[in-house]
Amino acid sequence: MQVTQALWQCPNCHNVLTPSDSGLACTNGHSFDRAKQGYVNLLLANKKHSRDPGDDQSMIDARRAFLQAGHYKFLIENIASLIQEVQGRAERQAPTSELTEAEDLPVTLLDIGCGEAYYLAQLQQQLQQGLPSPLQLLGIDISKFAVKRAAPYLKQAQFAVASSFDIPVLDNSIQCALSVFAPFDSKEVARILKKTQSCFIRVTPGPRHLYQIKQALYEQANLHEPASIPEGFELLTEKQLHRTISLNGAGDLANLLAMTPLNWHGRAESKTELLAQAQIDLELDFCVQVFTAVELVEDASDEAVEQLPNEPIAESEAVSENEVENEAENEAENEAKNALKGE
Ligand SMILES: C[S@@+](CC[C@H](N)C(=O)[O-])C[C@H]1O[C@@H](n2cnc3c(N)ncnc32)[C@H](O)[C@@H]1O
Repeated sequence: MQVTQALWQCPNCHNVLTPSDSGLACTNGHSFDRAKQGYVNLLLANKKHSRDPGDDQSMIDARRAFLQAGHYKFLIENIASLIQEVQGRAERQAPTSELTEAEDLPVTLLDIGCGEAYYLAQLQQQLQQGLPSPLQLLGIDISKFAVKRAAPYLKQAQFAVASSFDIPVLDNSIQCALSVFAPFDSKEVARILKKTQSCFIRVTPGPRHLYQIKQALYEQANLHEPASIPEGFELLTEKQLHRTISLNGAGDLANLLAMTPLNWHGRAESKTELLAQAQIDLELDFCVQVFTAVELVEDASDEAVEQLPNEPIAESEAVSENEVENEAENEAENEAKNALKGE
């Protein structure tokens, strides 16, 4: 029998939040109403640094349209296979006592900075057959526009407006945390991960990501620098994914620009010229890394650690959306972004 775990934590007192008639509540009397779209808002007013932090409605709409066209589907397929690989190995290596305890529990997957939930929805489709246990999916994003769009789109998942710097999820409760081009706090990620059989998957831009857009917009287009290993984590395995796609300026390219901070950079004329192109060949370049918290490695047996996949699986080389990640790196920067957009 599948058990759904209580995973949310009260942002006020850190007690467990359980379902109430109107939403979620803790035993200290803090309650959070469920919005009609199905999400809860766990971002406390005193933790908000602007009226509407995170991506705005136009970015969310553009991201939904761009991602639905399937250009990043190969990225999802690779994330899904990494999750299966790491979870499968971890389960094979776990002591029998742990497996018996966990056998009725779902695999808990949290998308940090989930946007409008394209990744969670795709992962659900791809993973539900391949994992030994059912999935329990959660998504948080500081943008209420994102979460409003996400909740009705993927009703099987639970969504909250929340900051990745103060994740309203219980300690030691998540098997797989995911961050795709979203900011996070490594201590918070380590706190919520289960002490065994868990992983953190981070996607960052490879060196040549969206290089042709940068070339069109900037005098000098720089390659993305590799992101550093998050503090307190150890790299288990990584994949570099690279491919070139063709986009037309009027449709997908306009959406891609509108969903990233690249939209606010470069000369307006350069952007107009770029969007006027009938077609552009554009490099996509992703670095997908799987980490484990260091104390998890220390807890595990040497044998188990040695057997985890460690070799980079180079599909090719990669690039550039550090703007996306860096620009969103903290709420202060989001405020700056909103100011740039005149919000
Ligand atoms: C580049 S988008 C990526 C969205 C999604 N992961 C995807 O790839 O489609 C970054 C996301 O992080 C969110 N974000 C920015 N700062 C955040 C924070 N402090 N906590 C949670 N989410 C945040 C933004 O609202 C936005 O939805």
